[in-house]
Amino acid sequence: MQSLTLENHQQTISSSNQLVNRIATPEHRAQFLDRADSLPRIQLDGRATSDLQMIAIGGFSPLQGFLEQADYESVVENMRLANGQPWSIPVTLSVGEEVAASLQEGNLIRLDDPTGRFIGVLELTQKYRYDKTQEAIKVYRTVEDKHPGVKVVYEQGEVNLAGPIWLLQRDPHPLFPSYQIDPVASRAHFQEKGWKTVVGFQTRNPIHRAHEYIIKCALETVDGLFLHPLVGATKSDDIPADVRMHCYEIIVEHYFPNNRVILAINPAAMRYAGPREAIFHALVRRNYGCTHFIVGRDHAGVGDYYGTYDAQHIFDEFQPGELGITPMKFEHAFYCTRTQSMATAKTSPSTQDERIHLSGTKVRQMLRNGELPPPQFSRPEVAAELVKAMQQNN
Ligand code: ADX
Repeated sequence: MQSLTLENHQQTISSSNQLVNRIATPEHRAQFLDRADSLPRIQLDGRATSDLQMIAIGGFSPLQGFLEQADYESVVENMRLANGQPWSIPVTLSVGEEVAASLQEGNLIRLDDPTGRFIGVLELTQKYRYDKTQEAIKVYRTVEDKHPGVKVVYEQGEVNLAGPIWLLQRDPHPLFPSYQIDPVASRAHFQEKGWKTVVGFQTRNPIHRAHEYIIKCALETVDGLFLHPLVGATKSDDIPADVRMHCYEIIVEHYFPNNRVILAINPAAMRYAGPREAIFHALVRRNYGCTHFIVGRDHAGVGDYYGTYDAQHIFDEFQPGELGITPMKFEHAFYCTRTQSMATAKTSPSTQDERIHLSGTKVRQMLRNGELPPPQFSRPEVAAELVKAMQQNN
């Protein structure tokens, strides 16, 4: 068990161009399983389970585990790890005081998924209290518990457990196994295809025409598209991932040249941290091998917490090249009835009332009533799929 000994702090952060791999070898896994009943045990929620997987597969490189205190505080205050590398969202595992008191720094901790299955191990190097209000202010720019990301922070335990992790094995995704393309594989795919430039697209919604427009504007200038919808935890009124995946398949099949798109799932959970999350989303796509990343209007925003283009401005806080991925910024896109095409204010002479754009709330309302959103907003095949799903759920 030599290699299971605790690594020092320096080793928990590797250099940014190296892809982290924290998936246990079969031998290690067997050793962990032998000790399954003797290790202290923690049950992860959906988000921590996603985080564990993302760390293990290298999606969160350079993280090798849940953040130690110096890194955590530096991330919250400065959007950087203690060693200066960019990182904008705390990736932490928290427990209540009582559980924390029962654990010793130096312990190996057994990590179970929400169903109680043993899926990973934490080499506990540190436990520390943290300031939830400060995290809310700095990361989410609000202390309101109505904000879904802040709410999660307030409901977490008071003590963060930190240290490198191991994932026992990489299981196929239960719903979308054929779209589970981990960073090692996506990088290899891009290379096989000879793509030198690849734009990543994050989404937690069905692709509507404004999305399609900005994606295609980007695709005009790069070799390939990595369509990378987030399928980890989202808020309850977001459209479920299985419905969205159908919509993505439809849009790729009917509206994109197949050989220029790779559709894959992003298993991470949504934080709704707007600007901070845009940086985080970009770093994750860098790890998957993208060279460019789309940031449109109110990226990863919720309610009115962020300015429409705050998630674009925040990229100015980093030196060119520092993030290892280039943002492609797009203004609010809409259908312009005057020119009869998709556009933004940069390319259309339209007045406000010549622009067709529907809010998410309005679209959900239409779908619930069995109404199809107009073709200027959504491709009809996607609209039909959404109405069908909405009616099955009612
Ligand atoms: S997000 O939470 O994943 O950002 P969403 O799936 O709606 O939400 O957005 C995916 C990407 O498309 C984000 O970069 C977002 O800024 C961008 N986007 C969404 N709608 C528009 C629009 N009408 N015009 C321009 N960009 C948009």
